[in-house]
Amino acid sequence: MARQAYRAQLLRFDPQGKALYDSDGLLVTERGADGVAHVLDAGSHAAVVARHPGLATTDWSGRLIAPGFIDMHVHYPQLDVIGSPADGLLPWLEHYTFPAEKRFADPAHATEVAGFFLDELLRNGVTTALTFATTHPASVDAFFTQAQARRLRMISGKVLQDRHSPDGLRDETEQSLIDSEALIERWHGKGRLGYAITPRFAPTSTDAQLQGAGELAARYSNTWIHSHVAENHDEVRWVAELFPQARSYLDVYQRFGLLRRRAVYAHCIYLDGTDRQLMHETGAAAAVSPTSNLFLGSGFFDFAQAREQNMLHGLASDVGGGTSLSPFHTMLAAYYTGREGQTKQGLSLAPTELWWRHTGGAAQALGLDGVVGTLQPGSEADFIVLNPQATPLLARRTQRAQSLEELLFALIVLGDDRVVERVVTA
Ligand code: GUN
Ligand code: ZN
Repeated sequence: MARQAYRAQLLRFDPQGKALYDSDGLLVTERGADGVAHVLDAGSHAAVVARHPGLATTDWSGRLIAPGFIDMHVHYPQLDVIGSPADGLLPWLEHYTFPAEKRFADPAHATEVAGFFLDELLRNGVTTALTFATTHPASVDAFFTQAQARRLRMISGKVLQDRHSPDGLRDETEQSLIDSEALIERWHGKGRLGYAITPRFAPTSTDAQLQGAGELAARYSNTWIHSHVAENHDEVRWVAELFPQARSYLDVYQRFGLLRRRAVYAHCIYLDGTDRQLMHETGAAAAVSPTSNLFLGSGFFDFAQAREQNMLHGLASDVGGGTSLSPFHTMLAAYYTGREGQTKQGLSLAPTELWWRHTGGAAQALGLDGVVGTLQPGSEADFIVLNPQATPLLARRTQRAQSLEELLFALIVLGDDRVVERVVTA
């Protein structure tokens, strides 16, 4: 059937991030000529059904339909190091992460992990992710092949790292750029797939590699750029030693042409006002990764300043530094991080804002507004069906919810993959 209708409680967002809620809602989707289902209409059951008389409807009363979650920054090859404690970022990379990533020289291993990763994302209600692969081009082919088989909207890219990296992971400057361009040509814009030019972080790329990445980013202007910035004190000090001419860590990326719309930087903890202004002016976005920042002891993202200076930002798991692929866990950690008031201004993020930052707000930060994340008419029909009664305590607490904010807060605090009953992708 080209046209489908689903009746349940319905959560959507308007393009400005305002939550729209119908306690008895109807979502109507229609498959286009390209085989991708889009939202045709959505709103209260009474209003929408009047516009589409006679439409057969799937009844999910008692459930909540919501946009699929978007993970703005994750590493699919790091599933096998999740939960590996270390003194901080740099020892964690050396002892756990780099050895695990070396194994992706084997395409069979990459294929197995990529498939497992995508199935885990879906089980957790995540329908779009921007993910690191590894330095091996075959790790990108494996990932996109698996994503394509599941017809998902996914973004990834080959990691660029031509120095301060072990044998088996370190790439060669010129070849790394040739490989990246070939992967862009092969995958970017193919169905719902997108390519991200992915320098790991400034310390593991030479000037020549960063320069080449910036040139590629200018030539292929609607690709993504994906990296890390200002995550950890030792890392920030190291960057200052390696790039003494740069004003700040973020300024290194600016000098090489790596700040623009669709440039996504994980963490953004140790930015100053000038850096945030630069993020705002260039349209680059922060991927806030609170479970990772708490687990690795990196620090606390400043939500108040991000808002104040109009810096695009959204939520991310950063697995394997992060401890969970569940958006519920990430939203709760974001709430704790916002509350922290010793190193910055503490604030209480509203549940609707936390939810927006992991759906439509993340889409906006990725330059995918109007495409996914809101269930606005015309957007792709990637959505999830949540069971607010999934556990005894959830059932008890959500029954007593007096408002949308209370319902969403109960799900954020008590929810996990058990809440995600179905995932429907375009
Ligand atoms: N900085 C450079 N590489 C990484 C990584 O793999 N994870 C995190 N969290 N930070 C990084
Ligand atoms: Zn990361």
